[in-house]
Amino acid sequence: MIESQDIVIVGATGNLARRRLLPALYDLEAQGHLPKRGRIVGAARRPMSAEAFRGMVAEAVKGARLPWDEKVWASFSRRLDYVPFTGEDLSGLREHLSEASRLVYLATPPAAFGPIVRDLASHGLTEGSRVVIEKPFGRDIVSARALDAELREVFDESQIFRIDHFLGKETVQNILVFRFGNSVFERVWNRDAIDHIELTVAETVGVEGRGDFYEGVGALRDVVQNHMLQILSLLTMEPPASFHAENIRDEKLKLLRAVRPVSPGEVVRGQYTRGRIEGREVPGYRDEENVAPDSETETFVALRLWIDNWRWAGVPIYLRTGKRLPRTATEIEIAFRDVPTSYFAGTFVHQLQPNQLTLCIQPSESIQFSFLAKKPGPEIEVEPVTMRFDYEAAFSVEPAEAYERLLLEAMEGDHTLFVRGDSVEQAWSVLQPVLDAPPPLRFYPAGTWGPAESQALVAPKTWHLT
Ligand code: BG6
Repeated sequence: MIESQDIVIVGATGNLARRRLLPALYDLEAQGHLPKRGRIVGAARRPMSAEAFRGMVAEAVKGARLPWDEKVWASFSRRLDYVPFTGEDLSGLREHLSEASRLVYLATPPAAFGPIVRDLASHGLTEGSRVVIEKPFGRDIVSARALDAELREVFDESQIFRIDHFLGKETVQNILVFRFGNSVFERVWNRDAIDHIELTVAETVGVEGRGDFYEGVGALRDVVQNHMLQILSLLTMEPPASFHAENIRDEKLKLLRAVRPVSPGEVVRGQYTRGRIEGREVPGYRDEENVAPDSETETFVALRLWIDNWRWAGVPIYLRTGKRLPRTATEIEIAFRDVPTSYFAGTFVHQLQPNQLTLCIQPSESIQFSFLAKKPGPEIEVEPVTMRFDYEAAFSVEPAEAYERLLLEAMEGDHTLFVRGDSVEQAWSVLQPVLDAPPPLRFYPAGTWGPAESQALVAPKTWHLT
């Protein structure tokens, strides 16, 4: 357990802090994982007393994973403090700190990152600080480099924790264990055995009142550049020399370097229009709050990419993400190659469904393997059957929220689950051709699987997740 550390949340009254960070910190308190000594200092522009901040946090932690508990709240609320700041001036912060080391979480719009870290430095708070930066890390390769340069003026890479909360999800972490802990799969994890890979991050939600953030960002920058390319690198990288943070991060970078920059001709961008989700009428994106009526921002992306290395040459990889789709699910589909059907000549079997491995990241955290079995009866007939591993059934525990895990790792100074600056840049360069020449925007009614053009992308196959 960590002896002492303060936690500073800059942007403490914002969406991210209220919906994810404060509930996760409460959950950590409930599990006895917060430092023995240390405050949680909220900093934001809004003038507010520490008392009022505690009231806001009490509301926010109702959304925590673990139930409300008076005793937990008593010890948690004793840590809470608040400091309003104007401009980017955090001069008031020092007197609210109680410990020599601290985790500073920048839950602010990206434009504020640079000025805030400079301000921390000017108040002598660089030493003893670790800084957590929320995505998006820039909006293209040029701005990502500029942001990195600003951070590196003040902090050493070892003090910087770039967060991608998908890396904190149990099932994402399990990708490496699954691949490198089970020899049977690693042997077939290559172009000889795999036909194609599909990764879908589908959400039924729209922009959830975050129109001001989402406008001009869009699905490519919001989800593909970070969450999806991070999952992809874990899924396809070479085995690292060990589970040590830098070994894993080196392999992820190497993989991203092998990804061919995506061609705009292999990308479909979509935007949702009015439609129905779960029986409810929902507005189109252009009618959402703080969204321009002629917005060109995409809420859906499907793309095909290629990894030009020994293991993956020639294997198409399909990525798809969107808002207002019919289901909320993050799934990886590994489709193995067909077998020759000649063996079945003269039987009722004319077509064989290839083996499929499905890694369900959320919401049903599970792994399924489908293979063919002979249907009972006198004739040779086959049918796909499934073997399924379910997290909750196997371990009888509810996985922790990603932010719980990541906050704890950052407090402990472990970089394994955080993204290194060079990988961020590399991920931008994979997408840069599409950012430079975005393909035309297509439209899809809310509640459908995106524009029809996204089907053409995978033809003659079809998307697995529907
Ligand atoms: C965030 C995106 O990073 O991830 C959101 O900004 C998206 O647009 C969210 O909804 C999805 O995360 P999760 O954990 O709810 O699947």
